[in-house]
Amino acid sequence: MYKYVVKGGTPLFGEIEISGAKNAAVAIIPAALMVEGVCRIDNIPQISDVTMFLDILREMGADIRTVNRHTMDIDCSGIKTSEATFDMMRKLRASYYLIGAMLGRFGRAVVAMPGGCNFGGVRPIDQHIKGFEAMGATVEVRNGLVYAETENGLRGAPVYLDVVSVGATINIMLAAVLAKGRTVIENAAREPHIVDLANFLNSMGADIRGAGTNVIKINGVEKLRPGMYSIIPDQIEAGTYMAAVAGTGGDVLIKNVIPKHMDCITGKLREMGVAVTEYEDSIRIARSGPIKRTNVKTMPYPGFPTDMQPQIATVLCIGRGTSVITEGVWDNRYKYVDELTKMGARIQVDGRVAVIEGVEALGGAPVRAMDLRAGAAMVIAGLMAGGVTEIEGINYIERGYESLIEKLRGVGADILSVYVPEDDGKSVRDAG
Ligand code: EPU
Repeated sequence: MYKYVVKGGTPLFGEIEISGAKNAAVAIIPAALMVEGVCRIDNIPQISDVTMFLDILREMGADIRTVNRHTMDIDCSGIKTSEATFDMMRKLRASYYLIGAMLGRFGRAVVAMPGGCNFGGVRPIDQHIKGFEAMGATVEVRNGLVYAETENGLRGAPVYLDVVSVGATINIMLAAVLAKGRTVIENAAREPHIVDLANFLNSMGADIRGAGTNVIKINGVEKLRPGMYSIIPDQIEAGTYMAAVAGTGGDVLIKNVIPKHMDCITGKLREMGVAVTEYEDSIRIARSGPIKRTNVKTMPYPGFPTDMQPQIATVLCIGRGTSVITEGVWDNRYKYVDELTKMGARIQVDGRVAVIEGVEALGGAPVRAMDLRAGAAMVIAGLMAGGVTEIEGINYIERGYESLIEKLRGVGADILSVYVPEDDGKSVRDAG
């Protein structure tokens, strides 16, 4: 078992380079399944969610070659199966994108139901299914498997989403690219990674318009051709380091970002008394005064992202006064609150609302990463706190943050990944 050991209380100074976006990568990699020939994908983040997805494609028969640390040649021409039912699938939420991709390519898909971070209960896919059915597929969920089939291939159709869903928007877009005729997705999600997927597919010959707005129109094409594509920088990774600097104080240049994607986070940090300066493809973040209280409501893009809610809540734990967080996307995304309470935070949760009473400082404690972003919040809390914080469950964090330890040590953080064998001895893994 590995855990992170953080000695907090030190402001951060220097530069951090942001990696490719996790949630774009896990949509673009399965989309490569629909392309005839080799796709060269650049700026792929080295995180376990991506490694797992590449392993799934290899298992299905794809030929994937590493060009360098962040570039892969993916050739899915050799995939003959329309079934992805192995156990690995269940560990990865985004594995459901294989339903849209395989329905598009083969007119049939059998896929194990997805796993991923669990925010208190089963994460529904009814909107994905509604879209596939509108396009003429028969979809059944039996014994943990999704069976989707069409008799004569998919037909384009109008689809109105009852909830703004990133996953459903992407999955329906994937299925529609090779369908016959026009699909119109209304009430579509607008996240930057949806635009990135559309750009990738369009560069391979797809005809998708309106990605980034709430109406996406897809004219089906006969086939997609090979090409090259570079994934956008990770908005949430950048936001997480911005929150870390806000929490600890200091002055850090976050490089390789698209500042426009950061607007919702930048605006909120400024309200909290943090200095944020935007450049063409970097953002400087500095804080020397106190954190001011504020309220945050999470919403689909361009609102404040739910995937930044635990990190911003952590910083507000030392805000002057009372802050209110309202979670507008997931039912249960406050499992990390008990962990922060162990560190001296004062937070009351009632349903989707958390009320945070700012305290002078947090104190180190043994805590657990409850999911990916909650884990990132524990790292931020540890960096802010006086004393030592030990974080267990770090496999969650490594699903979505490339070289977190190295990046943080590079700006002066005292954080290590420590191996704890059964006999409780300790040996250091990443010395930085
Ligand atoms: N929903 C439905 N029915 C559906 C699909 C979604 O009711 O068929 C509901 C969900 O229960 C939720 C809301 O709609 O209340 C939004 O869910 P969405 O489908 O947008 O989420 P997702 O596609 O499963 C992606 C990200 C999440 C991020 C959400 C919201 C990926 C792989 N995951 O999930 O990212 O929280 O969008 O922005 O893209 C993370 O990176 O830590 C993470 C969890």
